[in-house]
Amino acid sequence: MCGIVAYIGEEHPEKIIIEGLQRLEYRGYDSAGIMLANSDSYDITKVAGKVESLSNALSEKPAAKMHIGMGHTRWATHGKPTQNNAHPHVSQNGDLVLVHNGIIENYSSLKEELTNRGYSFQSDTDSEVLLNLIEDIQNREGLKLGKAVQVALQQVIGAYGLVVYDRKKPNELVVARLGSPLAIGIAEGAYFVGSDATPFLEHTRKVIYLEDYEMAILRTHKDLQIRNIKTDHKVAAYVEELKWNLENIQKGGYEHFMLKEIYEQPEAIRNTLRGRLLTKEGKIQISALNQHRDKFSNARRILILACGTSWHAGLVGEYLIESFARIPVEVEYASEFRYRDPIIYKDDIVIGVSQSGETADTLAALKIAQEQGAFIFGICNVVGASISRLADAGTFTHAGPEIGVASTKAFTTQITVFTLLALELARIKGQLSDAELRNYLFELENIPQEIEAFLEDIDHIKTIAESYHTADNCLYLGRGYNFPVALEGALKLKEISYIHAEGYPAAEMKHGPIALIDENMPVIVIATRKGHYEKIVSNIEEIKSRKGKIIAIVSEGDEAVKALADHVIEIPLSSECFTPIFSTLPLQFLAYYIAILRGCNVDQPRNLAKSVTVE
Ligand code: M6R
Repeated sequence: MCGIVAYIGEEHPEKIIIEGLQRLEYRGYDSAGIMLANSDSYDITKVAGKVESLSNALSEKPAAKMHIGMGHTRWATHGKPTQNNAHPHVSQNGDLVLVHNGIIENYSSLKEELTNRGYSFQSDTDSEVLLNLIEDIQNREGLKLGKAVQVALQQVIGAYGLVVYDRKKPNELVVARLGSPLAIGIAEGAYFVGSDATPFLEHTRKVIYLEDYEMAILRTHKDLQIRNIKTDHKVAAYVEELKWNLENIQKGGYEHFMLKEIYEQPEAIRNTLRGRLLTKEGKIQISALNQHRDKFSNARRILILACGTSWHAGLVGEYLIESFARIPVEVEYASEFRYRDPIIYKDDIVIGVSQSGETADTLAALKIAQEQGAFIFGICNVVGASISRLADAGTFTHAGPEIGVASTKAFTTQITVFTLLALELARIKGQLSDAELRNYLFELENIPQEIEAFLEDIDHIKTIAESYHTADNCLYLGRGYNFPVALEGALKLKEISYIHAEGYPAAEMKHGPIALIDENMPVIVIATRKGHYEKIVSNIEEIKSRKGKIIAIVSEGDEAVKALADHVIEIPLSSECFTPIFSTLPLQFLAYYIAILRGCNVDQPRNLAKSVTVE
């Protein structure tokens, strides 16, 4: 997890690296560091803390003319988040400098060998071990940097996205990737490197995403060459055109990225639907589904693999696909699936869901399924990400960059994709008449507008947040399509406000959680009109008779729940299958305002990172 940025060209790199690191802070933010170099020397600054502290530390240093730089923002795996453990690391003889994102799993045996050969270490990190291994190989085998990096990486078990600099060759940088993403931006006479392309969006639109086991040597005004680390074969560079722009990744007047991203949902969903929802023709057009129509028609079952919020979206997908298309669906945490020797059939379709497309567990689980013959369908947001490239087919959510660590628009757009998939599969399988499909399509088309109307007045949610921001615990209940939303609401609250929260299917309350309910327990109940309404009203009665505080999410015009609940938040009345998109919105706001009132950093909650690229 960690973000890396590098630059080689003619400009002074400090601003490029610092701004780039700030954009990558979603990947980790417990320490940061930078190396700035010219042909004669290099200088390193490191801090425990965020990139802002790094920038302050740099402003106290005299400015010298530099043209190469690399930076790192860390999410600690090996070693505490101290200044010493911050990157860049320097090799024992002081020649080599490295930034690394990933984990070197065999670092302790490598460290032992190096220690026996006289190496000592300044940090507790696996990355410093890798760097000294490169130096050791250079010394023993007399190799140039690129070759030494390649030989070292052949001995390494684990994951890496890395940049290495050698002061003996001060006009080049060596970059490599296995498991951790690495993008190279190409500009006139300069190269940019980033864990994703956001650090160099304003400098170039040309990007190459390195594949696993690929490395490259970057030299100013020279073409880059990519090689396979294992085979040493040259690899043809595939240059892509970036679609996102700078505006997409800035706060645009909002106090936090999370708030901006909540408000972006109407537009994000419009983008998800664009070109796919053909209301007038009464059709859904998902090209990857059309191309592989037979696979989907003949699928024995669909397996959905994901983590965190994306897993919750997968659960909504399960409800949608099973009820519309009548294909059996199983949803699994990718981290469990990959280690439990799962049974996979050749006629299984495995759907991997991931905002970033880089989550290590999801990626590994999909690889296992693919190796065993399953057809892999990816639902990702980040174009060019590893999961989208691994998948046999797939579709993008087109939500635009999501920077806030707490996922918001990624979730609602993933649900939108599942809705499209379920409806189209239902049509293909003859489970839905043209007239029924048409009605759903009309409703779906209006969702962005209805969200816009909802977003116009959320002051009452702020007031509810004021009443409950000091709570220690919170319960979220939902049934059917809204059970996964209850899980998602609880996850949002705990990750950004640090209040303990649990999501449950409402009927499960009686089997345990009801013991927790007293006058101090806020219970958020999703009670939409068309979904098991009477049953959930009974659940609300049960909470009320135990003095629990009820915050109910209800459909517009509701009467029965209003009479019982302490607070109600109305969402637009819709077919039950569309309610998760609406019921999620108040839960996002509630978590956001509670976190703000508790003084939490909503965009960068403690201990978390946006993209979990380590297992
Ligand atoms: O990028 P992905 O969708 O694969 O990420 C999966 C989870 O790490 C992510 O959803 C996480 O749970 C979020 N912080 C939730 O808000």
